[in-house]
Amino acid sequence: MIQDETAVTVPDSDIDLFTDEALTDPYPLFTALRGVGPVVRLPKYAFAVLTRYEDVRRALEDWETFSSASGVGLNPAINSAMSGTIINSDPPHHTSLRTVLSARLAPRALAQMKSSIVEKAERFVDELVDRRAFDAVTDLARTFPMAVVLDLLGFPEDGRDQLLRWGSATFDAMGPDNARSADALPVAAEMFAWLATSCTPDRMRSGGFATTIHEAAARGDIPQEAVIPLMAGYSIPAFDTTISTIASAISLFARFPEQWALVRADPGLIPAAINEVLRLEPPIPLFARVLTRPYRGLLGAGERVLLLFGSANRDERKFVDADRFDVRRNPVDHLTFGYGIHGCPGQGLARMEIQALLAALARRVSRFEVTAPPRRELNNMTRALASLPVAVV
Ligand code: HEM
Repeated sequence: MIQDETAVTVPDSDIDLFTDEALTDPYPLFTALRGVGPVVRLPKYAFAVLTRYEDVRRALEDWETFSSASGVGLNPAINSAMSGTIINSDPPHHTSLRTVLSARLAPRALAQMKSSIVEKAERFVDELVDRRAFDAVTDLARTFPMAVVLDLLGFPEDGRDQLLRWGSATFDAMGPDNARSADALPVAAEMFAWLATSCTPDRMRSGGFATTIHEAAARGDIPQEAVIPLMAGYSIPAFDTTISTIASAISLFARFPEQWALVRADPGLIPAAINEVLRLEPPIPLFARVLTRPYRGLLGAGERVLLLFGSANRDERKFVDADRFDVRRNPVDHLTFGYGIHGCPGQGLARMEIQALLAALARRVSRFEVTAPPRRELNNMTRALASLPVAVV
């Protein structure tokens, strides 16, 4: 629990984290906000931000003060549409939801999937690299996780090609009240409608996560009305996040070929390199919480607070030369997967997918060359590339 400290005023800032420029490159703004203070109010949006590593990490640990139950999104419409999802809940409801799929993503279950993911990655990379030139987003980063995760979820075929669009729209809809979130909300609603009408127990592929969720409801482990929010809760974050990390990895290795050479010379560095990519380029740079009680005499109960993972990960108080990409750094305590009770349950799976791809690429590719300017896909909540054309040598 975080103790109250002497009351001090919280500085305001007119920095806007949701303009096109800010979404394209938020890091200078994060640096400026860390300089303003550990807690800063953004009056334009009526919320506060925690900017520095220690504060963000302690807030993630203290779910009783920093509640998720009123929504981790930034506007009331999406928070209400997503109420009852795992990410928008506190214990005890959160605990029963989290238990349903915990064994499916635990190390023992992942170990059983490992050889098939590695084989898939090898085959996939062989075919891709033979082309010598491809788009690292549309041909690589998007294709591979979709192939792995869609089978795992076990949804019916008819909506599968929409899941990526729905997932990224849901993240966009989680932003503050702006044109982007308003446009995205009806698209996010399509996913919830599809889950309700198409994802009935009789239409699921047996053995998939969706079947495990239906079985938990049939046994009475979770209420029937928790089924759709729980299916949504595991579909929304499973794609965009992993895709973004793979694309960021290729982009960073293209820009810093000496770092790729280190990985190639010692593939044992791949797990450390993945941590460093995740630290520098978190696919989701922030999530919200609502205070259940005053925080350090600075903020009051009921205030919405953004936890800036993307800023914490580059806090110079925590990481030396924090903007530098260094695959030997191995920052195991970055906050890109969150921390505490909501810490990402899919991180082992995501790491396994990315590890398998990078290991296969390290055997075949000595250099990535960007052949046309990369394009960003702007989204209120996620950092993603739309296109990264590369040639491989
Ligand atoms: C690089 C890939 C990924 C990143 C960076 C990521 C990031 C995150 C973060 C930051 C949270 C914490 C949210 C919070 O504190 O409010 C989270 C939660 C979650 N993630 Fe991931 N994620 C990734 C991959 C995945 C995958 C592959 C899955 C599904 C198989 C997944 C499923 C979830 C779920 C269900 C939650 C909610 C957990 C809870 O509220 O207890 N994630 N993720």
